[in-house]
This record gives sequence, structure tokens and C-alpha cells, in this order.
Amino acid sequence: MTDPEIHKGLAGVVVDTTTISSVNPETNSLLYRGYPVQELARHCSFEEVAYLLWHGELPTDDELEAFESLERSMRRLDDRTRRALDDIPASAHPMDALRTAVSQLGGLDATLQQPDGILDRDLNEGRALYLLAQLPAIVAYIQRRKRGLDPVEPRDDLDYSRNFLWLTFGEVPDDVVVDAFRVSLILYAEHSFNASTFTARVIASTLSDVYSAVTGAIGALKGPLHGGANEAVMHAFDEIGTADRAAEWLDTALAEKRKIMGFGHRVYKNGDSRVPTMREALVTLVEHYDRQELLDLYDALESAMAERKNIKPNLDYPSGPAYNLMGFDTETFTPLFAAARVTGWTAHIFEQYAANSLIRPLSQYTGPTERHLER
Ligand code: SDX
Repeated sequence: MTDPEIHKGLAGVVVDTTTISSVNPETNSLLYRGYPVQELARHCSFEEVAYLLWHGELPTDDELEAFESLERSMRRLDDRTRRALDDIPASAHPMDALRTAVSQLGGLDATLQQPDGILDRDLNEGRALYLLAQLPAIVAYIQRRKRGLDPVEPRDDLDYSRNFLWLTFGEVPDDVVVDAFRVSLILYAEHSFNASTFTARVIASTLSDVYSAVTGAIGALKGPLHGGANEAVMHAFDEIGTADRAAEWLDTALAEKRKIMGFGHRVYKNGDSRVPTMREALVTLVEHYDRQELLDLYDALESAMAERKNIKPNLDYPSGPAYNLMGFDTETFTPLFAAARVTGWTAHIFEQYAANSLIRPLSQYTGPTERHLER
């Protein structure tokens, strides 16, 4: 019997079909339900994109009005969720607190115990919208608690992006900041079978519930090879300091065999299709806050990495400094990624439920041959 071909990390392996998004490295493009993500980032609200990912079509005006109204009605944190967050040391990483809070939301959802309560599509669409509405309040609560600040109550007169910023900072920033934030959320929302989404699909494939699948996805996203990279980019910028030190820092890091956070991608090998749009948003923030030195550092490290490794940035590279300029704590960056990606995760969970097929790959055993106890 010939040895089976092994595909470590499932690299290059097509495991299923999806109608949600197309990541095309040949054309360096990303489509959400057929629409180029750049067009969606330029012309749509995050609410419209969430609706598109879940329903396959952009909402009509009436559908959007109803969607926004329902989302705004779900924004307030339950006191029991606040208590669950308060029981976690303020020193814990925000992704750990976020993971706990989502798990807590599952524990509070009594409809899971109804007959077919786990798989009912209407219940799950409601849960997905509830998670969309709750994550900003949870992420903001965690950051404000770390800063010793009281939580801020959500406002139903604000759209999703402005309410998120209001909850976090207690004020609504200028439109240029709101728009950069909106763009980042749309770019982060969905990316086919990335590690956290595939984690969610594996959990959903066992017919477990949506909260369990999202909790698992949060755990996967936390890793620095995946969502945790945007936080790690900012730590690297803090280490480097100024643009003139970027090349020297990179040479040292590469000599130490370190992965340079924010660079490289398993699928895109000629650059991440989302980076130009996110870099444009970063530039608007650099101009707004007069922080040219940050953009100089960004460009210096990108150039040095291109010269030495010919590896291009991924979305986490521009989003890190952008979130820094918006005022978010560095440890809040990946929770922001999670708050956006919960739309993609739940769209894939629904698709996996509909596929109704358990995900269970094979492995090739290379351990000790059969042996027996001498007792
Ligand atoms: C995200 O999948 C998705 O779609 C994810 C995502 C999404 O929207 O969901 O796009 C979000 O997770 C983006 C990626 C964020 N992670 C990082 O920025 C961490 C740094 N990046 C690397 O760890 C790496 O690029 C990966 C993990 C992202 C991809 O790695 P691959 O495809 O498995 O490639 P590899 O690790 O096998 O690297 C091939 C070569 C190696 O050199 P050799 O050992 O063959 O000599 O390129 C080198 C690697 O060492 N390399 C890097 C590098 N990325 C690749 N070397 C230094 N720094 C890097 N960043």
C-alpha cells in the first residue's frame, strides 16, 4: 500500500465549496457574495455587509431599516455578562475575556434547549445578530475596565460603527475616524476558510451550537499566526521606534528566525488584496492626526521586508497602526477583528449546518508498531 499524500496545515487543499466569499490569489481579489470587497468598503455600511454575508444579497431600504432597528435593540450588556467579565482578572488578555463572554451568552440562551433549538435557522439568525450587537459592548467593556473606566451605555441613535466607538471612548470621533473604522470592519468581516472560520465550521459540523462554534473561533483567532498578528505588528512598531531603525531591526529579527508579524499569507502570495484599501484608510488617519512618522515607519519596514524576503504585508499590517491612531489599546486590536469576523464566522456556521457533513480528516500513524503489555 503506497503512503498517502499528506497535506500539512491543509495547505492548498480544497475541502468544500462555499458561496460566501471568493479569495483569488491569481487575480489578487476578494469577493463577498460576488461583490469586490473594495466596492463594499467604499459604498456600504458594515450593517449592509453583515446582511449581505448572511442573506446573500444586499438589503433593500426597508430590510436595512428593520435590520438596523433590531441590531440597535440588542446592544445592551446583560448584567450577568458584566459580572462574568468582572470575575476575570483585569490583567487577562482581552481575547480571553471575549471568549468567556461569548461562552456566557450561550449559557444564558435558554432557547438552545428547545426541540431543534440548536439548528433552527430563524433562532440562529437571531443569535448571529445578537452576537453582532453584543461584541462591541463586550470589547468596549473590557478595554474600559482595564483603564479603570466605568462602562458607557449603548446609543440607539448611532450606527454600528459610531456606537462601537462611543462605547469604547465615550465620544463619537470625527467622520474620518469613523470611516476608517468602518472600512476596517468590512475588510475584516470574511475571508473564506481561514483558521478561525474553519474552526467554527468544524464545531458546527458536529451539530454543536453557534456560541460554541464562535467561542472556538475566538480561540483560533487569538494566535499570532492569525488574528493576533495585528496586535503583534504594533508591538514591533513600538520596538523599532523610528523609520531609520527598521532595516536594522528586521535584520536582527530575521537572523533570530522570527516571523515578522503582518507579513505573508497562506493564500495570497503576491500581496493581500485588502491591504491597498486599508492602507488608504491608514493614510487618512495619519493626515488627520499629523502622524507622518508612523507612516514612514510603516513604509520603511515594508520596503526592508520586500528587499530581504520578498514577502508582502497582509491586512493585519495596516490595521494595527490604524487602530493605534484611533486610540484603541493594542490588546484590543484582535477583539476588533473578532467583532467584525463574527459575521463571516456565523455565515459559514449556517452554511456548514446546511451541508450537514461532519468534518473528520484522516491521519497517517507513524508511532510504535503494535506491541503488548508484559504483565
Ligand atoms: C491572517 O487565512 C486567512 O485568510 C487569514 C487572514 C484572514 O483574514 O482570516 O488573512 C488573517 O491571519 C493574516 C496572517 C496574519 N499572520 C501574520 O502576519 C503572522 C506572520 N505570518 C507568517 O506566520 C506566515 O506568513 C503565515 C502563517 C501567515 C503564512 O505562512 P505559510 O503560508 O504557512 O508560509 P510559511 O510559514 O510556510 O512560510 C514560507 C516561507 C518560510 O521560509 P522557509 O522556512 O521556507 O525558509 O516564508 C517565510 C517562512 O519562514 N515566511 C516568513 C513570514 N511569512 C512567511 N518569514 C518571516 N516572517 C513572515 N511573516
